[in-house]
Amino acid sequence: MYTITQYTDFFISYLENQIIDKEPKNLYDPISYILSLGGKRIRPVLTLLTTEIFDTDYKLALPAALAVEVFHNSSLVHDDIIDEDPIRRGKPTVHKKWNTNVAILAGDAMIILTYHYLQGYEPNLAKALTKAVNKMGIEVCEGQTWDVDFETRQDVTVSEYLKMIEYKTGALIATSMKMGAIIAQTSKENYDLIYDFGLNVGLAFQLQDDYLDLFGDTPTFGRRLCGDIISNKKTYLYFKALEILSESEKQQLMELYAVRLDDNAKKIETITELFQASGVPAATQESIKKYTFKASEILDKINIDEDKKTILRAFAESLIGRRV
Ligand code: IPE
Ligand code: IPE
Ligand code: MG
Ligand code: MG
Ligand code: MG
Repeated sequence: MYTITQYTDFFISYLENQIIDKEPKNLYDPISYILSLGGKRIRPVLTLLTTEIFDTDYKLALPAALAVEVFHNSSLVHDDIIDEDPIRRGKPTVHKKWNTNVAILAGDAMIILTYHYLQGYEPNLAKALTKAVNKMGIEVCEGQTWDVDFETRQDVTVSEYLKMIEYKTGALIATSMKMGAIIAQTSKENYDLIYDFGLNVGLAFQLQDDYLDLFGDTPTFGRRLCGDIISNKKTYLYFKALEILSESEKQQLMELYAVRLDDNAKKIETITELFQASGVPAATQESIKKYTFKASEILDKINIDEDKKTILRAFAESLIGRRV
C-alpha cells in the first residue's frame, strides 16, 4: 500500500499522459482545460485505494480511475451550466470561458470517453464495470433532476433531500470504490459493503459541500459562494434550520426560499443570520460526523487487515474538515 498523496500522484501522472490534443479544438480544449484545472481527485484515488485494499496492484485500476474522474468532470461541466456558476476550481467555468454549446458537447464527449476507458478491460471485467457505471450514471441524472426540481418546490422533505444527494453525489463516490473492488475480484459481500461505505462518505461529503457553499471562502473553495441560496436550493442547512427555528422564523425562511431576486445581498444576509442564530453550522457538522461514523461502522464488517481500514478511515475523516 502507498499513501494517499502517492496514489494522487500516480493518478495525475497517468492522467497527464491521456490528455487529447486533437481537432476540433472547441471540443478537446475545454476537456483538457477542466481535467487540468486540478480538483482533489478523491474519486480516482478511492478506486486505486480500494483495488489495493483487496490485494490487487493499483496499476490495473488506472483506466477505471480515469473513467470515474472523467465522468465526474463531465458532471461538473454540465452542473455549472445548470447552476449558472461562473467559477470552478478558481477559474472560469467551461460555459463562461467558451459558451454553453461548447460546454454541453465537451460534457457529452467526456461521458462517452468514460465508457471508452472501460472497454480496454478484459470482457468480464469491462461488462461488470460498465454495469456499475450505467447504474451510477442514471442515478446522477435523477439526482441532478431532483436538485433542480426542488428549487421551485416548497414542500420538499429531508428524506427527499437525502435521496437526492445519495443519487447526485453518493452514487459516484460509492461506485468509484466498488469499481476497485470489482477489479480486485473480491467477494460480492465486499462489493456491497465497500459501496455502502462509499455512499455514507458521499453523503457526508455533500453535506460539507452544502456547508462550504455558504461558510467557505472563495479563494480556497474555488467556487462562487452562496449560489445555493441565490437559486433556492434546499440544502442540508435549510432543513436543519427548519427543524430548529420558531414558527415565525420558519415562515420567513420559507418565503425567502420562494423568490428569485436580481440583488441577493439582503436575502443572503438574512438567511445567514437565521442559520447562525439557530446553530445550523454546528448541527450540520454533527450530521457530517454521524455519516462518517456510520461509514466507519460499515468498514468494521469488511474482512481486511486493520491497517487498511485505518487508511480508509483517515481518508474519510480528512474529508470532514476540508475547506476545498
Ligand atoms: C464537487 O466535487 C461536486 C460535488 C459532488 C459536491 P469535488 O469537491 O470532488 O470537486 P473537485 O473535483 O475536487 O474539484
Ligand atoms: C454537484 O452538486 C453534483 C454533481 C455535479 C453531480 P453541486 O451543484 O452542489 O456541486 P458544486 O457545489 O457546484 O460543486
Ligand atoms: Mg453546482
Ligand atoms: Mg448542482
Ligand atoms: Mg454545492
